[in-house]
Amino acid sequence: MPSLEEELFPSTPGKFKDRNRHFHRCFASTSTMFLWALFLIALTASYLCFQSFVDSGNRYFSATWGGHHWEKQVRTSAQIRRSHGMSVLVTGAAGFVGSHVSLALKKRGDGVVGLDNFNNYYDPSLKKARKNLLNEQDIFVVEGDINDSKLLLKLFDIAGFTHVMHLAAQAGVRYAMENPNSYVHSNIAGLVTLLEACKNANPQPAIVWASSSSVYGLNEKVPFSESDRTDQPASLYAATKKAGEEITHTYNHIYGLSITGLRFFTVYGPWGRPDMAYFSFTRNILQGKPITVYRGKNRVDLARDFTYIDDVVKGCIGSLDTSGKSTGSGGKKRGPAPYRIFNLGNTSPVTVPMMVGMLEKHLKVKAKKNFVVMPGNGDVPFTHANISSARKEFGMREARRK
Ligand SMILES: NC(=O)c1ccc[n+]([C@@H]2O[C@H](COP(=O)([O-])OP(=O)(O)OC[C@H]3O[C@@H](n4cnc5c(N)ncnc54)[C@H](O)[C@@H]3O)[C@@H](O)[C@H]2O)c1
Repeated sequence: MPSLEEELFPSTPGKFKDRNRHFHRCFASTSTMFLWALFLIALTASYLCFQSFVDSGNRYFSATWGGHHWEKQVRTSAQIRRSHGMSVLVTGAAGFVGSHVSLALKKRGDGVVGLDNFNNYYDPSLKKARKNLLNEQDIFVVEGDINDSKLLLKLFDIAGFTHVMHLAAQAGVRYAMENPNSYVHSNIAGLVTLLEACKNANPQPAIVWASSSSVYGLNEKVPFSESDRTDQPASLYAATKKAGEEITHTYNHIYGLSITGLRFFTVYGPWGRPDMAYFSFTRNILQGKPITVYRGKNRVDLARDFTYIDDVVKGCIGSLDTSGKSTGSGGKKRGPAPYRIFNLGNTSPVTVPMMVGMLEKHLKVKAKKNFVVMPGNGDVPFTHANISSARKEFGMREARRK
């Protein structure tokens, strides 16, 4: 056995040569191993990256749908139980407006299938609770995303919807500064995926969808009429809703889809959205915390044309009933189809201090108010609807204060 010295300093040159060769072989194999190890690490890292990319892409596409039982639930829920009824796919069915519209349609005997991705923009347990309400009335709510074209294809295949009530969207004006891409995901990409599915369906459904009063943006002419300018959005939310109006127009023009866009004005009522001011104000007032009340230029109070949920539901159903048919088939237009836009408002704006006054009265607690100049975060100073078109077309009523 060579000594340590011999190991380091071989006694003969030949031995040294051999040792040297051996050393080089070892070194070569070590460096090869090192390279292999590096390669494997890189491969693992790229696999993990790819996985996380796929996961984030599929975050909304939960594979909870499919299978015999699931298809049966969809089919049963879509069944029409009145003569001349309709079979409606309600997107955003676990949302505030979607849950109310679904219940109202089901109540009169229409077939309803809900679709919602239960995202966590606000507490998903509220969405689950709304879903339970719908389940109790035999409305099946599919958990899935409107960007999932395979899911949409499957749903249309099973249920053959006559109408789509499209309410799924990323709502809220201020959140757009925090998570702009969620607006693009749901309000633009999701809308296009849904329209593609509708265009390809045979027969094509008629589509009623929620735009927003926010499209009036910085328009100062009151009350807001459908023909007023909508090219000055004040928020990304508004911009995506405005884009939705243009996108739906394209699908109407090219493919003959019947389209009705509804510009909702600040909807309120039971099971409402917790991100809306009347909720946060109530919570803070009850907890004795101060509330921030924004004011416009020259201390002008902000005002909203608050619209009660029942009136909005009537407007949605009136729109579905009068929507007219899509004319295309197999992705081809066969003739002109209706393209309509309606304001669904109350025509009676309420200032924010008035709203706070009502809360104080009902809660029997005085609010601690901090008046602050409205920051430029997407809000507009006031909204006020002219609803004469909706009144004429489907009897929309005005000014019902609850
Ligand atoms: N409530 C209002 O005051 C108001 C005003 C103007 C316009 N709108 C519009 O009306 C519609 C309904 O609003 P809401 O107040 O019920 O809001 P909401 O947030 O309570 O309901 C929307 C639902 O859509 C779901 N959703 C979002 N993105 C989705 C996606 N990609 N795939 C599947 N589901 C998705 C959400 O989980 C949610 O349950 C929205 O389009 C909103 O922009 C509402």
